[in-house]
Amino acid sequence: MCGIVGYIGKKNAAEILLDGLKRLEYRGYDSSGIASVEKGCIKTLRAVGKIKNLTKAVSSEKFSGNLGIGHIRWATHGKPSEENAHPHTDCKNKIVVVHNGIIENYRKLKSELTSSGHKFASETDTEVIVHLIEENYSGDLLSAVKNTIPKLHGAYALGIVSGDDPDLLIGTRFEAPLVVGIGDNEFFLASDIPAVLTYTRKFIFLEDGDIVEIRKNGYKIFDKGGKKCDRKVHVVEWDPLMAEKSGYRHFMLKEIFEQPQVIEDTFRGRITIENIDEFLTEIAMTRRNIQDINKISIVACGTSYHTGLIGKFLFESLTGILTDVDIGSEFRYRDFIVDNKTLIITISQSGETADTIAPLREAKKYGCRTLSICNVMGSTITRESSSTLYTRCGPEIGVASTKAFTGQLAAIYLLAVYFGLIKGRITKTSAIKFIDSFIQIPRDILIILNKEKEIISLAKKYYKKFDFLYLGRGLNYPIALEGALKLKEISYIHAEGYPAGEMKHGPIALIDERMPVVCIATKGKIYNKILSNIEEVKAREGIVIAVATEGDKMIKEKADHVIYVPETEEILYPILNIIPLQLLAYHIGVLRGCDVDQPRNLAKSVTVE
Ligand code: AGP
Repeated sequence: MCGIVGYIGKKNAAEILLDGLKRLEYRGYDSSGIASVEKGCIKTLRAVGKIKNLTKAVSSEKFSGNLGIGHIRWATHGKPSEENAHPHTDCKNKIVVVHNGIIENYRKLKSELTSSGHKFASETDTEVIVHLIEENYSGDLLSAVKNTIPKLHGAYALGIVSGDDPDLLIGTRFEAPLVVGIGDNEFFLASDIPAVLTYTRKFIFLEDGDIVEIRKNGYKIFDKGGKKCDRKVHVVEWDPLMAEKSGYRHFMLKEIFEQPQVIEDTFRGRITIENIDEFLTEIAMTRRNIQDINKISIVACGTSYHTGLIGKFLFESLTGILTDVDIGSEFRYRDFIVDNKTLIITISQSGETADTIAPLREAKKYGCRTLSICNVMGSTITRESSSTLYTRCGPEIGVASTKAFTGQLAAIYLLAVYFGLIKGRITKTSAIKFIDSFIQIPRDILIILNKEKEIISLAKKYYKKFDFLYLGRGLNYPIALEGALKLKEISYIHAEGYPAGEMKHGPIALIDERMPVVCIATKGKIYNKILSNIEEVKAREGIVIAVATEGDKMIKEKADHVIYVPETEEILYPILNIIPLQLLAYHIGVLRGCDVDQPRNLAKSVTVE
């Protein structure tokens, strides 16, 4: 998730762009840059790291233009570096582009453009866009953009200017947000409202396929069919902080609601039915390397460890590879058994967790191959792993991990299918069937998110409780652990996740009329077993909150409350079942007056032992 800003008007563009990028820093902060049209030339300045580095660089330069574009980057293709920072220019430094999104077919476009003589200066997918526009440009920027867009597959929000036309700012979007800010004889482009809310409260939300042509005296919008159209002008009442949260009360809630997009983005361009034979090409492992793996050791902490537990189920059932999972702080002090046929998979949102970095370094001494699943490009774990499969969640601000968890699950699903195909354990047909179901997941998550009111009423019933028990079996046992972790770290209520079959070996002594027990009871091979666990709880007056499959009537007779999730493949239920538990933890935390974005005693990234 990157941030785009554009400006055309009477003011100094560079100042407006910098100010806007600062307000978008929550969207990503590994590099940034601006480009301004200065007397018919493009002047570009870029810097690695936080926006303050760019501000410092700009302060020692002279920018006087009043047309420009800016970008703050959350890397998806190409490490954080000045070369990979946006804006990107064409070969003649005449046209310049900033981009938020993912161009899925950029490799093919890049090789075509390279063979027709274009010189590339970065590893990004974005750079192909500006060279394509150059290819189509013969003096009319708008028609060059219109001829370029159909060639792009994937998601994009673009800001485009040319030194040849100091009175033209172009914006376009497809499956990535882009708004037009309307000021007094000045106009703005932005990925998100906060960037320019101090200058205007009037916004147009462009629609997929729209192209906007902005000049100092006005704008024209062309819809995806190329027809000129009008879009409603909205007046936004938010204050700037509310706007950073897109109107949500907390970053945690915003990030819970971002999960459909995160799943789509993590999946985007990595597997389509056409190229199923060679997807996940970014994994620097040959087919031979993968076939040689005889053991996978997953190492992670906290929420990422719970992802790893689900990974064990998926790898063993889809690939047949023995898989173990360890908490980082335990693994590093164990006499672990690994060798050069072991693949160490580290899972980490931040890529900076000390308890995950240390075992990674230890294991490498034994010649293991290493692969990380991570959300932050260029973080320590990614630099010290031989390859990385990035989740594409954008920055996760809330300390309690939500969208990173489902983004990691999406990555694990992809990896397990990829390895399973190469190991010959699953057929291409079953992989395609799996993908078909997975493509429904963002829609299924949306269905669950629309049940938020039901979950709020549950939170109101039980937010004063002192203890919760979460029960799950099989793939849903890690969901019980994750649901309990969310509740305890957000609301400070004692909550425990347990394998449901273990109830009779101890925890059942806890059950009484004061104890809410969350049972994850979606359809699957061991559904009847969890039903009997629910009966055991009810027989002891416990309160049962069940997560169940839409249409399951029987569960209603047994549980006190049921939250339904849409039907899906059994191995995909974990990614749905966690959603109601995230919402339950969030709303209980809010009702208890807790600081849900920064819970007491916790840090977003635990970089110490
Ligand atoms: C999850 O809600 C917690 N914030 C915490 O358990 C976190 O998952 C853990 O510290 C691991 O962090 P990482 O994914 O950045 O390595």
